[in-house]
Amino acid sequence: MPAPDVIDEICEYALQVARGIPWICEPLTRGRGQAYLLQHILRNRLLSSVMRPAWIARCPDLAIVRKTIGQMNEELVNDAAISRAHTELLREMGRNAGLSDAQMSSVSAVPKVEIAFNVWENIARTRHWISGWLATSLDEFILATLRDHNFRAEVWMKTYGLSRESVFFFTYHTKADEDHAGRKAWAPINRYLSSDAERADVLRGMKLALNALVLFYEGVAELGDEMERGRSESRG
Ligand SMILES: [Fe+2]
Repeated sequence: MPAPDVIDEICEYALQVARGIPWICEPLTRGRGQAYLLQHILRNRLLSSVMRPAWIARCPDLAIVRKTIGQMNEELVNDAAISRAHTELLREMGRNAGLSDAQMSSVSAVPKVEIAFNVWENIARTRHWISGWLATSLDEFILATLRDHNFRAEVWMKTYGLSRESVFFFTYHTKADEDHAGRKAWAPINRYLSSDAERADVLRGMKLALNALVLFYEGVAELGDEMERGRSESRG
């Protein structure tokens, strides 16, 4: 019997973990949405200015390196297709969801999110470059693949009473993420895993990155529930 394809194994494991993450699957409250956007502002910067540069420094595949630098550019500098950086879209989404610029500029990571950031950074800097690549793209794969989850634009329209134009961050990313992660984007992985030991190491790195993802979303959900309690108390 042929060994199961390593990419299938990654995809199946990631989806199984994702389905058990409450923030992703439970009803989206205003507080949980705002908490996500705040903590994701920090994660977005970490992904493209720390983690991606760290693992591409060890990546032997120049096509992957170029594509990833292109992605970093789209995130932080300019996405030529829309003449804007994704960080701007994210800020705009934050304003549409009721966050102030002051809140978004002064945000700091809650403890579980900070732990996740440290785990991811360590993977990107020290583990196999493929584990680093996975650590920076597993979430994109999950969101592009799961059917029902809180990244769907419709969920945000309903929770915040927004128009389709106001949730562009989410409609745009559902498409962009399919290009960045998943079976097709990850196909080169097979070419670079030459031994069982290397393959096992990459899978361990992938699982560690997903454990950190669980922590990230726990931190976001806890912050969101706290913000939601604050809102209902101030309403009296
Ligand atoms: Fe983006």
